[in-house]
Amino acid sequence: MMTSRVLSGVQPTGNLHLGNYLGAIKQWVDIQGSYECLFCIVDLHAITVPQDPKYLTESTLDTAAAYIACGIDPETSVIFNQSRIAGHCELAWILGTMTPLGWLNRMTQFKEKAGKHKDQSGLGLYGYPVLMAADILLYHATHVPVGEDQKQHLELTRDIAGAFNRQYDREYFTLPEPLIAGPATRVMSLRDGTKKMSKSDESEYSRIHLSDDSDTIAKKFKKAKSDMHEGITHDPDNRPEATNLINIYAAITGKTHEQVCQEVESMGFSQFKTLLSDAVIEHLGPITTTYRQLTDDKAYLQSLLDKGAENAAALAEKNIKQIKEIVGFVV
Ligand code: TRP
Repeated sequence: MMTSRVLSGVQPTGNLHLGNYLGAIKQWVDIQGSYECLFCIVDLHAITVPQDPKYLTESTLDTAAAYIACGIDPETSVIFNQSRIAGHCELAWILGTMTPLGWLNRMTQFKEKAGKHKDQSGLGLYGYPVLMAADILLYHATHVPVGEDQKQHLELTRDIAGAFNRQYDREYFTLPEPLIAGPATRVMSLRDGTKKMSKSDESEYSRIHLSDDSDTIAKKFKKAKSDMHEGITHDPDNRPEATNLINIYAAITGKTHEQVCQEVESMGFSQFKTLLSDAVIEHLGPITTTYRQLTDDKAYLQSLLDKGAENAAALAEKNIKQIKEIVGFVV
C-alpha cells in the first residue's frame, strides 16, 4: 500500500503571523493524524531575497518553535530545515534541466517579486518553484497543503514530475495532489482587505503576530479598517474588509460561513471587532505562551532540528540515490 505523505513548508523570515497560522500551520495540525507528515522550514527559499545571517538563524529556530506551539507533534511529524538535506538542491538541479523557461515565465509570484527589475533578480528567485518541486518530489509526497497563492507552484510541480517520468520513460514520481484549506486560506491585511497579510507590510497594524499579547491584538483589531455599510456581511467584491474579518472569525472558531454570517449580520463593526478579537485572543493565548517559552530554549530547538534532519535524511537519501541511478549517475 502507498503511504499518503504530506510535505509542506513556510519560509523562516521572521515573526509568524495570523496569515501563516490560519493559512497553513493550523491546517497541518488538523491533518497530522491522517498522514505521514514532513514540515519543512524552507531556509533555502528564504535566501532568494537577501537575509541577514543572524536573523535567519533566529527566524529558523523561531519557526520551529511556532510549529510546535501551534500544535504540530514532533513525535509523529518530521520538523526540519531544508538546507540540512543536500537532496533538495541536488534534485532541484536535476529537475531544472527539464523545466522549460516558458513554464517559469508564467509564474505570477516571480513576476510580482521581480517587478520591473527582472534583469537584476537572481537565478534563485527565478528557480524558486523548481526548488519547491524538489522539496515535494524528494519525499514522494502525495499531498501538499497549499494556500491559494501557491497553487500555481504545485501545478508546476506536477508538470515537472510528468516531464521527469516522460524523459526516463517510467512512472517514477506520483503527481502530488493539493489539499484545500478551510475558510481563511487567504488572510488579508487588517489595513487593506485586498492585500494579503504579510510580514513585509510596513504597518504593524496590518497583521497579528503569534507573539502579540492580548492588548496588542485588541488594539490591532480595533484599528482594523472597516467600511460604511450597515451590518456585517460576507461580500468579497464590495466589502473586502468585512469579508476578511468574517473569514478570520470562521477559521478561528471553526464555525461555517453561514453560521458566522447569521451570528454577526446585525452587528456594527465595533461590536463584531470585540467579539472577533476576544475569540482570537482566547485561541492564540496558549499558543503565544508556549511559543515564548520555546523561543527561549534554543538548545531544545537545536536538538529538535537535529532529530528532524536525521529523520528527513533517512527518506531523502534513499530517494536521491534512486533518482541518480535513473539519471545514470554513478553512485
Ligand atoms: N513556497 C511556499 C510559500 O512561500 C513555501 C514552500 C517551499 C512550500 N517549499 C514548499 C510549500 C513545499 C509547500 C511545499 O508559502
